[in-house]
Amino acid sequence: MSHHINAKESWMKTPVELPELPWAKDALAPIISEETINFHYGKHHQAYVNKTKELIAGTELEGKSLEEIIIAAEAGKPEKQGLFNNASQIWNHNFYWDCLTPAENSKMPEELAAMFVRDFGSVEEFKKQLVNAGMTQFGSGWAWVVVEDGKLAIGKTPNADNLWTGDKKAVLVLDVWEHAYYLDYQNARKAYLDKVVDTIINWDYMLQNIKKYL
Ligand code: FE2
Repeated sequence: MSHHINAKESWMKTPVELPELPWAKDALAPIISEETINFHYGKHHQAYVNKTKELIAGTELEGKSLEEIIIAAEAGKPEKQGLFNNASQIWNHNFYWDCLTPAENSKMPEELAAMFVRDFGSVEEFKKQLVNAGMTQFGSGWAWVVVEDGKLAIGKTPNADNLWTGDKKAVLVLDVWEHAYYLDYQNARKAYLDKVVDTIINWDYMLQNIKKYL
């Protein structure tokens, strides 16, 4: 996958650090438990940060933004695959946490619902297609909503791959790695996706993202 990122985009300044979570670790329960967050954020996300720092230490990429590192690693040789995987996983997880919110705050704005009707036929059809993207991502990966050609579209990527190329602008992501749901749902990925989509999506954040690109 090649990226054609506008270098002037101000969001390309993410530091290589574990960000603060936007909510308390137990705030998404029972949809996503505190135990899952402790492992997912505290162990997996932290490990991607640690590994990325280790891999860039003493190289020309030390001190660069996360996005610059991802682009450099992706454009590079196979020996950069480990760096790409770890750096891109930091980015995807940063974004994923912001896409979630406690159930009491997950209210879909009318404006966003109208976009779903316009681009998918109905809100339910949008949700169905998003869950289906997560279900048909074989193995580990991510389900995405992107803005492409002025419309919303659904996507999916394997492993650490992301979707913020020049043509596609990511506005929502859901983690479908087993570590995202196994403690709470075991192998029932669909139950995890249905619950998340129905109750803890940060629709306001998604709408803000869409407005950056339309
Ligand atoms: Fe994850």
